[in-house]
Amino acid sequence: MKKIAIFASGNGSNFQALLDAVKKGNLQAEVSMLICDRPGAFVVERAETEGVPVFAFQPKEFKEKSEYESHILTLLKESEIELIVLAGYMRLIGPTLLQAFEGRIINIHPSMLPAFPGKDAVGQALAAGVAQTGVTVHYVDAGMDTGEIIDQRVVEIIPGETKNTLQAKIQKVEHELYPAVVQTLLSGKKETLQ
Ligand code: GRF
Repeated sequence: MKKIAIFASGNGSNFQALLDAVKKGNLQAEVSMLICDRPGAFVVERAETEGVPVFAFQPKEFKEKSEYESHILTLLKESEIELIVLAGYMRLIGPTLLQAFEGRIINIHPSMLPAFPGKDAVGQALAAGVAQTGVTVHYVDAGMDTGEIIDQRVVEIIPGETKNTLQAKIQKVEHELYPAVVQTLLSGKKETLQ
């Protein structure tokens, strides 16, 4: 079974969707660990409930980013992780992890990239008055939401849409798309992990 590590900072609904897909047999992978940079985040509770080992750290415990990334890298290597799946991880990945896992780190973003990168992509789309936004899964590079796009889905914005209704529609799409993309990548059916 191929092993993945999920990195998350918050609620963890995508973490849960990936776990649920594994349990249903739609994703042939082992979620070997959760890496979390906010020890109080709800995603930590979810992982504990699911019996997924958690490494929760406070970045300020470390002198430099390279130090905590080296620590994480040791854990990833010990567990023979093949793919890093970012799911609401609110931190840029630094050179230590990027070099060690080149082409093997992916992220999900709530817009049709390259539109609306960065924070509050849902709010950005509403403020721009566009008729459509979406969901993107992409490889991670040193930039903010700039890596090569793997797959995308469009989400319509209807009149009277609020941030809450749009967010809910986007998350529903995310919870289907992300496990499917991870499965495709791990099974080597689409783009190979570079
Ligand atoms: C998702 O909308 C994802 O696209 C973005 O962060 C959010 C995480 O949500 N990167 P959750 O913690 O998985 O519920």
